[in-house]
Amino acid sequence: RAGAAPQVFWHAGQVTASERGRQFGQQAATVWLTGLSGAGKSTLACALEHSLIEAGRAAYVLDGDNLRHHLNRDLGFSPADRQENIRRSAEVAKLMNDAGLIVICAFISPLRADRDMARQIIGESNFIETYLSTQRAVCEARDPKGLYRKARAGLIAEFTGVSAPYEVPLQPSLVFDTDAHSVAECCAQIYRHLAPRFVRE
Ligand code: PPS
Repeated sequence: RAGAAPQVFWHAGQVTASERGRQFGQQAATVWLTGLSGAGKSTLACALEHSLIEAGRAAYVLDGDNLRHHLNRDLGFSPADRQENIRRSAEVAKLMNDAGLIVICAFISPLRADRDMARQIIGESNFIETYLSTQRAVCEARDPKGLYRKARAGLIAEFTGVSAPYEVPLQPSLVFDTDAHSVAECCAQIYRHLAPRFVRE
């Protein structure tokens, strides 16, 4: 196994990922939301989770801010730390997909190489890259946590969109400008995209 020490062995189980997913009447997937701070990733992720659960699906949100409280609390915002943040979080998403869940990931994930790493970890067929294309000026005007203001004042280093890069996805599966479309509209469109994976109504 790549990454494991030679004295560590893989123990295969008796149940497949699709058998686990079938228990929930679905085929697992990861909806990977990427976009600037303030684009609405967390809001959309929670609304989508809610609508999936209401419809009887098994879903769970992995949110960058939240994971940084515990699992990823040793990580900052340097390129290397962001990469490790995405790597660990993608590994968690993969495990949750393996358990049969629809996972909704909300991470700025500003670099293409890191998103491609996530895609590789999770697997092409389960990875739904969803770009929140909301313009920086709009995100900055919203500034829900006052972070852009602090970044402009030089109080936060390496802030995405101000003093650190955001690389626009080249071929995302879905794109939403949250300035032009409501949370409900975005949710409904993602739900439609997932619908073929729902094998039991
Ligand atoms: S990343 O780039 O994917 O590793 O970031 P992520 O794990 O999604 O965490 C983003 C949240 O961290 C807060 N924050 C910052 N964001 C960007 N740059 C810097 N320097 C920074 N410092 C703190 C911020 O609340 C982000 O949350 P969102 O929900 O995106 O606004």
